[in-house]
Amino acid sequence: MINTQEQNHSTQIIQDLTDKEFSKIARYIESAVGIKMPETKRIMMQSRLMRRLRKLKINSFGEYINYVFDEQNSSELVLMIDALTTNKTEFFREPDHFDYLTNTVLPELAKTKNIIKIWSAGCSSGEEPYSISIVVSEFIKNNPKLSLDFSVTGTDISTNVLDKAHNAVYDIDVVNQLPYQLKKAYFLKCKNENVNLARIKSDLRSHVSFKRLNFMDSDFCMSEIFDIIFCRNVLIYFDKVTQENVISKLMKYLQPNGYLFLGHSETIFSMDLPLRTCVPTVYTKVNKTYD
Ligand SMILES: C[S@@+](CC[C@H](N)C(=O)[O-])C[C@H]1O[C@@H](n2cnc3c(N)ncnc32)[C@H](O)[C@@H]1O
Repeated sequence: MINTQEQNHSTQIIQDLTDKEFSKIARYIESAVGIKMPETKRIMMQSRLMRRLRKLKINSFGEYINYVFDEQNSSELVLMIDALTTNKTEFFREPDHFDYLTNTVLPELAKTKNIIKIWSAGCSSGEEPYSISIVVSEFIKNNPKLSLDFSVTGTDISTNVLDKAHNAVYDIDVVNQLPYQLKKAYFLKCKNENVNLARIKSDLRSHVSFKRLNFMDSDFCMSEIFDIIFCRNVLIYFDKVTQENVISKLMKYLQPNGYLFLGHSETIFSMDLPLRTCVPTVYTKVNKTYD
């Protein structure tokens, strides 16, 4: 039992999620978003949804479930999904991917392309798409003879993180961990000395756009075909069949010979996909048409 002696909900004691309530929400999340919700996620689900109950001044999970499902409350469904996704990310996470991008992928693509289109699928709060943009900008700066432009599209299901990504404002402590030269070139510290925030400069932001996309949708309806897709640390939340389905759908939007980057603990082992391994967790699309 959780005592919520806080804010406006001061005297209310909210009962723990019952088995039935837990499985109703778990089943919905698995089918709508693909994220596995085993019993081990129960405490996480309860504590994250508790914040929604407090906000809505709802006194029990039963009442919340009626509010969300019986009343077909689509805006609360979005907020419930927001609350239950895990959005951990950081600038230059899994840094060897960014070295491979600089040393192998970009030089290869620059031989034939004037514009490189990149998709950060499951981009969370923007650190990944902005890291990619910094790397491509540095590559262009270091190869002044090339006439090369680029765009990065970030997608995620969570509206919370997409708002943050769009604003492109980050804690100065996080930004200070980046090499000085990158910090100086791509971030602006807030002028107010008491506010410890920095924003990505507008020139870099102008290459990056964001939109909401659910990997469970039957078609992703993207308007572009990409040269590179990053889909990292997302598939781990899905079961094997869902993982293969999602990558198959991504393949429709990857150019032949384009590159797919997965997270370091993700693999396409034993999946029937038109991909060849370049180095562990980086793949290139082999020529095969997709309907
Ligand atoms: C752990 S973060 C990874 C962020 C980044 N790619 C990285 O590696 O740092 C996983 C992201 O996937 C998103 N996600 C989870 N399920 C999704 C779905 N069905 N459709 C789209 N995005 C989803 C989550 O909202 C979350 O922001």
